[in-house]
Order: sequence, then C-alpha cells, then structure tokens
Amino acid sequence: MKEQILTTTPLKMGHPSLRKPCQKIKDFERVQSMAVFFKELLLTNPWSGIAAPQLDVNLQLVAFQLAPDVAARKGGIPCPPRVLINPVITPLTDEIYEDWEACLSLPDLMGRVPRFRHIRFEGFDEMGNPVCEEAHDHLARIIQHECDHLFGVLYPERMADLKTLIYRDQFEVWQEAAALL
Ligand code: NI
Repeated sequence: MKEQILTTTPLKMGHPSLRKPCQKIKDFERVQSMAVFFKELLLTNPWSGIAAPQLDVNLQLVAFQLAPDVAARKGGIPCPPRVLINPVITPLTDEIYEDWEACLSLPDLMGRVPRFRHIRFEGFDEMGNPVCEEAHDHLARIIQHECDHLFGVLYPERMADLKTLIYRDQFEVWQEAAALL
C-alpha cells in the first residue's frame, strides 16, 4: 500500500487544506501507520490533539490526549494519545462553558471558546473497531476542537467574543486587566 509522506509541521490558518471538509475513511488498514504516527506526535509534543488536515491529509482522522499535566490543571482523568476516525459528536446536555483554546494552526494565539461540556463521541479506532464513549469538560473540549478541523472549522469561528483572541505572551497582562473589571 502506498504511504503518504507526512510533514510534521502543522499547516497554518490561511492554507486552503484547513478549510476543506475531510473524506470518510473506508480502508482502515491504509491509515494504521498514520494513526501510530499521530499518536507518537502527541507523545513527543506538548499537544492536546491534532487533526489529519493539519498535516495536509484530507481524511476524517483525529488524535487527542489529556496529558497528565493538563488534567492536573483542567481536571479530569488523564487519557493517553488515541485516534478517532470518522467521528460523530453528540452533545448530551445543553450545558456550554467557555475556556481558553489554542491551536497548532494558529501559533502564538489563544482565545476563549464556548463548547459543550458533555458529549458522546462515536466513530472507529485505527483498527476499525467501533467507538462509542462519553467525555466531559476539557477532554470533551479537545475532541470538539479536533473534530471541527475535519469540517474546515477553526476555533475563532466558534468564539463568542473575538476580543478574547489574544497573543499567548499577553495572557498575564490580559488576566490582570480582566481581574480589574
Ligand atoms: Ni486545532
């Protein structure tokens, strides 16, 4: 099987591949090595997730994790890197909460994004086994963020107030100013 050569440098906002809806995966064997590669990327980088289109692959595949240090800060049980294919997300309650997000495709920026607090995520793992699980809080946020990438959506489009789209190196001064409000 011919393997696609993957870059490890995520595409940046403006690249048209980030805006194309991704195709469903039918041949799971073809994506197994890609799945391993994506999980390795998460193990070796301080990233919460990555979606195939960010590496210029137009397929419905995301990888995510809840790293122990992130779980300690945001709550939740750590989740090792895993892959989700052809995902479908269903909110399980109406509850929405806002928190900071960042994205490899918008380096140096961060913004406050409303997301569903409690979701079900369905799809397949890289072996083609069906997945149907629930997630809440920060892990649910990560999964929603990554799955948005498969439909050409980047987090600024989900933001309620673009005034909270800031440079990461301005976070402390932003926080100080917000505390005074
Ligand atoms: Ni992203």
